[in-house]
This record gives sequence, structure tokens and C-alpha cells, in this order.
Amino acid sequence: MPKINDIGYSKMTFNKHENFREFVQHHIKISDPTEDYYYIEGNAGSGKYAGFTGSPLIFLEEAAKYRNRKFKVILIELNMDNILKLTDTIKEYYQYNNISIYTLLGDNSDLLLKMPKNKHGLCFIDHNGIPPFKTISELSEKSKIDLLINCPTTNIKRVRLVWKQKFLLEYLSIIKRKNILFREPKENDPVRWSMILATNNARLKHLKRLKFHSINNEKFNKLNYTDTETFKPTKATLELIEKLCKIKMKSKDIVSVLNKCDIKAQNNKPWTNANLKSFCNHNNIIVNKNDKIVKKKKPIVNRKKLCIKHSITNTVNTLNKKGIKTDQGHTWTNANLRAFYRKNKLNKDRKEDIKDIIQQLLKKHKRYNYIVEYLNKNNIKTIKNEFWCYNKLYYFCKTNC
Ligand SMILES: C[S@@+](CC[C@H](N)C(=O)[O-])C[C@H]1O[C@@H](n2cnc3c(N)ncnc32)[C@H](O)[C@@H]1O
Repeated sequence: MPKINDIGYSKMTFNKHENFREFVQHHIKISDPTEDYYYIEGNAGSGKYAGFTGSPLIFLEEAAKYRNRKFKVILIELNMDNILKLTDTIKEYYQYNNISIYTLLGDNSDLLLKMPKNKHGLCFIDHNGIPPFKTISELSEKSKIDLLINCPTTNIKRVRLVWKQKFLLEYLSIIKRKNILFREPKENDPVRWSMILATNNARLKHLKRLKFHSINNEKFNKLNYTDTETFKPTKATLELIEKLCKIKMKSKDIVSVLNKCDIKAQNNKPWTNANLKSFCNHNNIIVNKNDKIVKKKKPIVNRKKLCIKHSITNTVNTLNKKGIKTDQGHTWTNANLRAFYRKNKLNKDRKEDIKDIIQQLLKKHKRYNYIVEYLNKNNIKTIKNEFWCYNKLYYFCKTNC
């Protein structure tokens, strides 16, 4: 990524600024007009660079449209040259009576935690690389402000695989906000930059118009897992691979059979030894010393129990596809399925099933982090149909196991 004075930019930068402007317009519009609006930026940059209008300037342009609202704008930046240029770029906004601007030179991991508490508005974090999630988590405990975080999701996956670091979901689970949403990345973006919004504001819960979804949405899996991890083969492919396993064929021969049969692997690519190995890993098939593929004896969790992995949306889709109607003869929706579960106390059974699975896993693995990863990978969600995190599992085990 090219940089000017520590400010990284790419062909996606224009898109970032467009999305940021769109979000800021909406955020100011829905905020309480009787309260001062705080805008805090942890990585302010220089205001203008490489032909781009930077985020602090975008915010000020939008805020200036509201003459009868009060704004406090706090811009934090580590690089001295940038802060000097920024002060010059935004100078016309110092004349606005309703906008107070403070530019701070320093490290955001220190300064963000000193920001005024219990204020309303927005804090934007826009690091060149992986966001400072520890600071963000501490900030979320200290203040109530909405957090918007620019996040390179592909880089987080790479770092996780190479350095055995955390899943994006694990990082997000330590942010203390009721609603965590993500913005769909642009299709042609290899880094899959996404904006993460962490908020307690119920009015920001549904932002589909701005392409934000809850992290419980299935689309989030693409940001949390690699393509191989989420790859679901057709039943026929799985059966064929299993048959080839039974005759103890070597993995390189299986790869050539699959490619000759024109069966595609993930992302519609041909099979390779590497993607076959990772496919096998995910389907309880192991490769032994002689490079032969054999089926694992016993999965850790009873297959039947895995039926509960289906989310409400999946169940609704399946019921409707099969033409099964509700007792009143209506098509199924998430709401009426939930009501059906409640009426028939199915949530209770689900809790028992989840408890069983966790107890089985606990016998084999003492580490909660491993179990969290296993449950999320297999789409086994909590009773509230959310992804697991360390705290949720700890609390569940404490009260149920
Ligand atoms: C991607 S740029 C920000 C661009 C800006 N948000 C925009 O859209 O115009 C990241 C900026 O963060 C600054 N930075 C990096 N580490 C920082 C830190 N620990 N504290 C404050 N600023 C930091 C860099 O100097 C750089 O200017």
C-alpha cells in the first residue's frame, strides 16, 4: 500500500470516503439535536492527500450544513507533518461559532482513553492496518459514543492463519456495545475493507440502506472465515471423495480424478493438494503418513445434534421451500418461527442440545477458545442465535454445565 506521511491509500480509498460521508450524513441526521455532537477521530491524517478529501474534512463539510447544532470535533494524529497540514486544510471551519475543533498530536491508544465520557456522537478509527482492538475495547467500556472502525478483514484472516491470532469475531466480541454491524465490502476489493459499527443506539440497528448488517447475518462469515473455511461442497462431491477415500487412494490421485471429472473446488477453482487437505480437515477426513486419505473414526460431536446448527433464517427458508405452512396456513417468517419455538418450548430443548455438545467438547478440550472456534465454525449458535465468544461460553458453562 503506498503511503504519504504514514497515510496509506489505495484504489479503495475513494470508496472509503464515499461510505464514510454517507454514514456521517445519516448519523448526524438521527442524533439528538438538543445535545452537543462529539466527533472524535483516532487517525485524522492530513485532511487532504493524493487528491483525496480526507475524513476530518468530510465530517466538517457535513457538520457545516447544520448551523443550529453544536459540534465538538477532536482530531488525533501521531505524525507532526500531518497535523500541521490538517490544521491548515480545515482552517475555514475554525470560524464557525457552532463548531469547536481541537487537534491533538499523539498516540491514539493513550489519547482516546482520555476523551470526555458520557458524550454522544461518533468516534472514527482508521488505522492503515489492523485496528487497535484492545484500545477500542477499553474505549467502549469508558464511553458511550458510537464507534466506526475501518477494518481490513482479509489481512486479519492472513495474520490469524500465519501468526495464530484471533478471528475478527473474537476481536469484535470484546467491544462493549449492544449492536455490532458491518458494512458489506465492495465486490472487487481484495482486502475486503469493511466498516464496523459498534453502537447502543437502537435506531442504528437496521441500516440495510447503507449496506450495514448485524454480525449475526450469514454474510459476516465471509469476513470472519477464509473461502476454504466456509466452502460447502455439493453432496455429490463429498460422496465421491468419500468413495475415493474408502479405496485408500493417495491425495494427489484424488486431486487428479476430481479435476479430470471437472469438479471444481472453492471459488470455482481446480483442486490442488492444499485445498483438498483443508477440505478434508473440515469434513472429518484425515490424511495419514503415506499421504493416503482415510475417514476419521468418530466425529467429536454426534452428527444428529448438529441439526441444531441451522439458524432461524435457514429453517424458515427450508420450510418455505418444502411448501410447509404454519398452523394458520401462512408462509413461515423469522417472527412466526420464533413464536412457534416459544409456544412449543423448543428453545428449552435447544439449550439442552447445546449443553450436551459443550459438555462433550469440554471432555476433550479444556480450552474455551478452541470450543468457541469450533462452535462458530460449525454454525452452532447461542440460544439467542448469536455467535459465541469467550465470555458467552464462560457464562453458559458457569450456569449450565
Ligand atoms: C489511513 S490514515 C488516516 C486517513 C484519514 N482517516 C482519512 O481518511 O483522511 C492513518 C493515519 O493514522 C496515523 N496514525 C498511525 N498510528 C497512529 C496512532 N497510534 N495514533 C494516532 N494516529 C496514528 C497515521 O499517521 C496516519 O495519518
